[in-house]
Amino acid sequence: MSEEPVKYLLSERDIPEQWVNLLVDLPGDPLPPLHPGTLEPAGPADLAPLFPMGLIEQEVSPEPFVAIPEEVLAAYRLWRPTPLYRARRFERALDTPAHIYYKYEGTSPAGSHKPNTAVPQAYENARAGVRRLATETGAGQWGSSLAFACALFGLECEVFMVGSSYDQKPYRRSMIQTWGATVHRSPSDLTQAGKANASHPTGSLGIAISEAVEVAAQAPETHYSLGSVLNHVLLHQTVIGQEALAQMAAAGEEPDVVIACVGGGSNFGGLAFPFLRRVLRDGARTRFIAAEPAACPTLTRGVYAYDFGDTVGLTPLIAMYTLGHGFVPPPVHAGGLRYHGDSPLVCALVKRGLVQARAYRQNETFDAAVQFARAEGVIPAPEPAHAIRAVIDEAEAAREAGEPRVILFGLCGHGHFDLSAYEAYLGGRLEDPEFSEADLEAALASLPKAPALT
Ligand SMILES: Cc1ncc(COP(=O)(O)O)c(C=O)c1O
Repeated sequence: MSEEPVKYLLSERDIPEQWVNLLVDLPGDPLPPLHPGTLEPAGPADLAPLFPMGLIEQEVSPEPFVAIPEEVLAAYRLWRPTPLYRARRFERALDTPAHIYYKYEGTSPAGSHKPNTAVPQAYENARAGVRRLATETGAGQWGSSLAFACALFGLECEVFMVGSSYDQKPYRRSMIQTWGATVHRSPSDLTQAGKANASHPTGSLGIAISEAVEVAAQAPETHYSLGSVLNHVLLHQTVIGQEALAQMAAAGEEPDVVIACVGGGSNFGGLAFPFLRRVLRDGARTRFIAAEPAACPTLTRGVYAYDFGDTVGLTPLIAMYTLGHGFVPPPVHAGGLRYHGDSPLVCALVKRGLVQARAYRQNETFDAAVQFARAEGVIPAPEPAHAIRAVIDEAEAAREAGEPRVILFGLCGHGHFDLSAYEAYLGGRLEDPEFSEADLEAALASLPKAPALT
């Protein structure tokens, strides 16, 4: 019988006690968010109506590591550390000499990486005396994760769920409600932002963010919570990469390439940043690939500019690749990747050539997901299926080069609530919407006035 290991497990004692803050390692000056009225850097006072001071401090922290509070570690122990797998069956199916590893975040209560930041966000808000959190959700993964975290810390939670996901994933709604939160279909008629966007019935993350920000800005006992994009969110997710570093060391291998999907950048940053720090500080030669949908190709086709984080224009201006805050992506099934912008940290790394971005269409993505599921068992969420598509490309390149390259990718969530998407793919009913030049021109016409980025 073969003794080849497929799982690398850590014990509860190995859960990282600090988060990795890559902000301090980025070459060049950081590009702060700007107040849209004054175009001056947005300071803590500008963010305080929406976020507790504990998270604002993490957002701008000058420290290379940030300690994880004991209460957060206690909650992390419910599902962390997560397993790292060597995908030996997938390697054989692909007939590649590459060694393929995946860090699996689908073992969390909500089924993805999102609770890694939902828990510290709920904790910091509860500590600050906040009573209720309002948020958006694209795939339903973030909304269910925040509902779970709010249940742990005794907070109320109100979720604006992007219309297309609300219709495609009724059981994500039940999950959110089971943890005690309220869920609304976005665009809703509960907010000005929702009413103003009634002509986009499938919704978008940008519209749902506007609705949640509006609710939070109007109620002093309510704060806003964002599941991606911001520095503190990526900071929280670095537990993934730190564990993966230890697990790859246990496997006795060093990744040549690290791959993850990018919607707002949080699972990518979480897995990649601890490895990227070694590139920036120690001259490691790891490559990084960010995989995104061709229907919403922010990193591969967007412009690098200051833009709003939401559709209506309620947030500070953020320095990022953007398709324009007015862009409403087609209702592809990877709901978590339907966002017009991306994390400023990830965008700065793409801009400097430290991270390569690739875009994939829906059918080729689901083809990769099905190949993976038939070899490894796990049915991936549509979002990480984009990463798997990129893994297949890299595994084929390794075969052509005849090299046993080591590939590490983030399997950031399972697809148990996404089976209507699989049903459409298996029934031959998935479309491959493309992002056109006309889409780009129309979207970019809405960019706000702000200093140009080079
Ligand atoms: C399973 C899953 N993966 C990826 C994403 C994209 O977000 P991020 O790029 O922040 O990881 C989402 C967002 O909802 C998601 O639910």
